[in-house]
Amino acid sequence: MRILSGIQPSGEAHLGNFFGAIRQHVELQARGQGIYFIADYHSMTSLRDAARRRDFVRELALDYLACGLDPRRSILYRQSDLPETCELGWLLTTVTPMGLLQRATSYKDKLAQGIPADHGLFAYPVLQAADILQFRSDLVPVGQDQKQHIEMARDIAAKFNQTYGAPVFELPEPHILEEVALVPGTDGAKMSKSAGNTLAMFSPEKQLRKAIMAIVTDSTPVEAPKPTEQTLFQLWSLFASKDEREELFARASKGGLGYGEVKKDLAERVLRFFAPMRALREDLARRPDEIEDVLRTGARRARELAAPVWAAAREAAGVGPH
Ligand code: ADP
Ligand code: TRP
Repeated sequence: MRILSGIQPSGEAHLGNFFGAIRQHVELQARGQGIYFIADYHSMTSLRDAARRRDFVRELALDYLACGLDPRRSILYRQSDLPETCELGWLLTTVTPMGLLQRATSYKDKLAQGIPADHGLFAYPVLQAADILQFRSDLVPVGQDQKQHIEMARDIAAKFNQTYGAPVFELPEPHILEEVALVPGTDGAKMSKSAGNTLAMFSPEKQLRKAIMAIVTDSTPVEAPKPTEQTLFQLWSLFASKDEREELFARASKGGLGYGEVKKDLAERVLRFFAPMRALREDLARRPDEIEDVLRTGARRARELAAPVWAAAREAAGVGPH
């Protein structure tokens, strides 16, 4: 089974990326051929700073490796090391109905956030479909917010196959981890780099503590019962066992539990949880050549897997020599 997913290098990785993506990717390595990539082409739709993009690519590679991605088993590559993906994007975009793209909720959300409406942003799901389809990926693990994009990849694949009467692409399945479908940010909205409400697990300890202390809560006094559906409790629960959660929630509903206490405890839990990964990351960061090596080797292996599909798509569409 081929398992494929990508993350944009558009900022520091955060708890939403970890629970919604990176952790699943690492766990899924055991189930098949993992193919993970750093979506630098996609990041161009929102980040227009070349130097920062390069930095974020390196940082994200470090995050993946520190969180347990094993480069001997899985493939980790940089999207732009396979420029053929863009060509495939063109072959696909010529059969993609406008209406399909106009229904994309993530496009509408991005416009609402004030990101300029350029063609790249609009065509984003087509390039994502190329990422997925070029490997005949079976499973695409992503957070809930990406489900529609995977469904669009299925629609675009079917449309291409039907248009050219050839079974070039297979239809991929999204794989959503239900319990942590969406990690909330410090302001209660979806945690997202672009919303400025993230907890970045590898940011300096002081900064991370400060961000946790700033999580928005209601103004219930300490003695009063606390509603446990709040962001703070949701985030805390990510780092607690079922028994611990029941105990804390019971204390919260009795009253007498202060938000400050929960925040401090959350900070300790987050730091403890990521401590071994943080240490490994610091160690890897001292060997940048090795990171570049991993990415290059990953691209070479990825190209071997994708080349037959690129060729089949060109052949079916009658593009290039026979
Ligand atoms: P961001 O929204 O911060 O820009 P990306 O869009 O780069 O993050 O997302 C990378 C991966 O992390 C995707 O698979 C996405 O579904 C997942 N992800 C991002 N934010 C969250 C969140 N708050 N909760 C769960 N998963 C998330
Ligand atoms: N759009 C994804 C995100 O923002 C990143 C991505 C690009 C991706 N190509 C992909 C995810 C292919 C899965 C498969 O999170």
